[in-house]
Amino acid sequence: MKTALITGGAQRIGAQITKTLHAHNYNVIIHYRNSGKQAQTLVDNLNHIRTDSANLVQAELCDLQALQTLADTIKNLDLLINNASVFYPTPLQNINKNDWDKIINSNLMAPFFLSQSLSALLSKNQGCIVNIVDIHAQRPLKNHAIYNISKAGLAMMTQTLAQELAPSIRVCGVAPGSILWPKNESELTREQQQRMLNKIPLSKQGRPQDIANTVLFLANASYITGQIISVDGGRTLNQ
Ligand SMILES: NC(=O)c1ccc[n+]([C@@H]2O[C@H](COP(=O)([O-])OP(=O)(O)OC[C@H]3O[C@@H](n4cnc5c(N)ncnc54)[C@H](OP(=O)(O)O)[C@@H]3O)[C@@H](O)[C@H]2O)c1
Repeated sequence: MKTALITGGAQRIGAQITKTLHAHNYNVIIHYRNSGKQAQTLVDNLNHIRTDSANLVQAELCDLQALQTLADTIKNLDLLINNASVFYPTPLQNINKNDWDKIINSNLMAPFFLSQSLSALLSKNQGCIVNIVDIHAQRPLKNHAIYNISKAGLAMMTQTLAQELAPSIRVCGVAPGSILWPKNESELTREQQQRMLNKIPLSKQGRPQDIANTVLFLANASYITGQIISVDGGRTLNQ
């Protein structure tokens, strides 16, 4: 039985990754920050399916001390999914240091130091890290400068750690296109949403399951490292 840690694994895409890995015989460690209720429900459901197959860890990943405490609680690991992330607009003239720290630390610093802290354990099991990047690591999303920079950093982190941690750990990434509308941008009008969908050759949003399937593929792909797969309905063809 292999063990996976999924950051931000209590809801939305992270929860689908958690459920998919669990359905494929992984024991899961679900990390959450504020979504304690959703995390507890998910862990209860998964333990109902298979006894002692799911655990919870809580941490604010911008806090390096809390991140290290989380890493210290883990005794065995095969797969680390760096999924937790923040996403909100940062128009250039309004950006302050607080925005910079919040987005860069959540989306880039935390995956880096978590990978570093867990590399000894992963190495013992010939393990794997999968970073959830974004197609906007390659081409910027207007008004989201810090987010774009954070995900571009995560893409380079994927390649650089693949090199540094080989041959004992593989490091890959999944770059989603439009999967779920952001929680804090639910006020996007139907017209705005339709305009975005019109740019996607497959004419629809992806499903969290599409991301989870690709994570599972990479977790099993024993001769792939340093690669990032876009799961975007062809959106990058029109960028
Ligand atoms: N949604 C999309 O269409 C889309 C598109 C492109 C890329 N992506 C990427 O796919 C991944 C999942 O997307 P999503 O929309 O499902 O993510 P999300 O709902 O925006 O965030 C996932 C979780 O990250 C956790 N988190 C954020 N900052 C944290 C911090 N500083 N410390 C600890 N936990 C933190 C939160 O946990 P709590 O709720 O427990 O606080 C949150 O539930 C992300 O990496 C995202 O960038 C998504």
